[in-house]
Amino acid sequence: MANVAVVGTQWGDEGKGRFVDFLATGADVVVRYQGGNNAGHTVEIGSEQYKLHLVPSGIFNPRTLSILAHGTVIDPVSLAAEMDELAGRGLDMSGLRVSLRAQVVLPHHRALDALGEAARGDADIGTTRRGIGPAYMDKAERSGIRICDLIDDTVFESKLRRVMDEKNRIITRVYDGEPLAVEPILDEYRACAQRIRPYVTDTIWLLHERIEAGDNVLFEGAQGTLLDLDVGTYPYVTSSHPIAGGVCVGAGVGPAAIHSVAGVVKAYTTRVGKGPFVTELLDETGQWIREKGHEYGATTGRPRRCGWLDAVILRFAARVNGLTHLAVSRMDTLGGIDRVKICTGYRRGGVVTDRFPARWEELGQYEPVYEELPGWTDQISDVTRYDELPEAARLYLERIEELTGVPVAMIGVGARRDQAVVRCDLYR
Ligand code: IMO
Ligand code: MG
Repeated sequence: MANVAVVGTQWGDEGKGRFVDFLATGADVVVRYQGGNNAGHTVEIGSEQYKLHLVPSGIFNPRTLSILAHGTVIDPVSLAAEMDELAGRGLDMSGLRVSLRAQVVLPHHRALDALGEAARGDADIGTTRRGIGPAYMDKAERSGIRICDLIDDTVFESKLRRVMDEKNRIITRVYDGEPLAVEPILDEYRACAQRIRPYVTDTIWLLHERIEAGDNVLFEGAQGTLLDLDVGTYPYVTSSHPIAGGVCVGAGVGPAAIHSVAGVVKAYTTRVGKGPFVTELLDETGQWIREKGHEYGATTGRPRRCGWLDAVILRFAARVNGLTHLAVSRMDTLGGIDRVKICTGYRRGGVVTDRFPARWEELGQYEPVYEELPGWTDQISDVTRYDELPEAARLYLERIEELTGVPVAMIGVGARRDQAVVRCDLYR
């Protein structure tokens, strides 16, 4: 038995969904430990494509438990809709479990997310407007409503009335917005509570029972290292902890319960939302990558900003997550270019550093120092063994290993579950 964490090393959208889904085939339990429906995990199985926002990627295996742990923030309307959609496509929902302790995302969180962004004007963060930041604010302020409250009609009503009273004052007096009516929220949320109630449990005890029974547990990260509230490009971050340390807080396990940490790396870099991006390509190569990789947000449909791979970021991610392995996605997408580049350092005023800076303003002042490597063909989607990959693709992967000091365990050569080269079993 082994417990594996899969985390994003960049700004999200690294292809975590495809590797988590692949690894989930060997897992007994899959746990989402942070974030909410700001995530968009695309999974392709056979000819079917699924976009998951809240439901863990273990849901495709009927024998796997899929846990939404207490570190997540759950919009019950979104969760119920996602469950209905997946069930409608024939998936079995009986393995889903939702933590009693998870925070509930409410309509005023979504409203305040949008109002806050509008008020920031040019300095907006570019959030998904799913209410994620305001929900985590209420949790930290200790006024949040949890799933255990939601599933108790009386408790929910009294807490909601109290909270809405205050939030409506903020919406109207601070932001000049329209107040939200409580009754429709009560109705809608009660209906969703009804749908979710059978799956709600104390997931801490459940998880520990399964760990003690020797199960393989997979911790599924959403977002990525640079979107982490503490180590990311603050304030252009999300409000949770996608890094490996977030697993302990968000799922309720100690650090020694995590046996390996796989960092998912997209073969190039993308970012949605605002904030500096040193290797961003504003030319036709960036456009080419966006079109070829269909780099449009799975959650908001926004075009993703695209650029070369940045090893400064990867080295930073290797450290703050304690990465034991890398999983590189989209090697097929990057294929077909003559020469590819990797950023190995940042230059400012003639000085080169390989340290990722604390301040986003500083990040914005850096020029990338590139290393050029030969490109490879994009006809690699049928490759199943490492030595079948074109030499240039292997060189690229080996250079990533050298620059990060972390071995590449898995390589994505296509979107489907089976289109991956697997070099080691992470559960061993
Ligand atoms: P997955 O799990 C990419 C970004 C938003 C914005 C910032 C804050 O699919 O990789 P938020 O709504 O979280 O308050 O927005 O974080 N963001 C993501 N970017 N992938 C994601 O998830 C993201 N979730 C949030 O675009 O810049
Ligand atoms: Mg996404």
